[in-house]
Amino acid sequence: MRKKFIAGNWKMYTTLAGAKSLALGVAQGVTDDAVTVAVCPPTCWLVPVAEVLKGSHVGVGAQNVHYAAEGAYTGDLSPAMILESGCQYAIIGHSERRHGLAEPDLFLNRKVKAATAAGLTAIFCVGELLAEREAKQTEAVLEFQLAAGLAGLEAGALGKLVVAYEPVWAIGTGKVATPEQAQETHGFIRKTFGKLFGAEAASKLVIQYGGSVKPDNAAEIMKQPDVDGALVGGASLKADSFVKIVQAAR
Ligand code: PGA
Repeated sequence: MRKKFIAGNWKMYTTLAGAKSLALGVAQGVTDDAVTVAVCPPTCWLVPVAEVLKGSHVGVGAQNVHYAAEGAYTGDLSPAMILESGCQYAIIGHSERRHGLAEPDLFLNRKVKAATAAGLTAIFCVGELLAEREAKQTEAVLEFQLAAGLAGLEAGALGKLVVAYEPVWAIGTGKVATPEQAQETHGFIRKTFGKLFGAEAASKLVIQYGGSVKPDNAAEIMKQPDVDGALVGGASLKADSFVKIVQAAR
């Protein structure tokens, strides 16, 4: 039985005071470990948010990570830095970086390998553009993103991997995938993952859905057998709506 996992991606929002009070509100609303829960604040708030969440049932993730252990990489952070900031997770390949900043698959692959090797759990995002869905290329796109992004990942790293399916047309648009679309695509991702890493690993893989998840649609989507949680953007910026989504996962 896979445990549901809800992560909040705060993107480039919140002030320091706002981040701390949001983290506190989430910690107060999540009172046990029935669902795995994490928040991913902006990098500059990782340390103070991790401080607020110490001893709570809520983990911390970074929104990005570099693949190198150290070096001349202006503006980047290594997996060890992210870990030492108090994180257990790192989002990799979010569409706002994959498409928005044209991060190549090869980079994402290196990041997944480096992050998992360092002990972080990678939340590896995949998803098709609207034009790709309309052209019936969704499966081909996802197959490629999974094969390229996870190439050469060692069996020992699979326990440190979560896949987030985020159809790009659903991110921040209010257009959520129907439960049937989500199930069909998650089923395909699990099957594809099974071809890459075997059926047992596929049966254990946590696959989050992301894209306009709100308190009023979360339960219906997460009821689908292959939907193991959610990566939440907008609705994670208010403690009460995020906590409601966590409750919907129970
Ligand atoms: P959204 O963002 O919930 O605001 O659509 C999801 C995401 O980008 O992870």
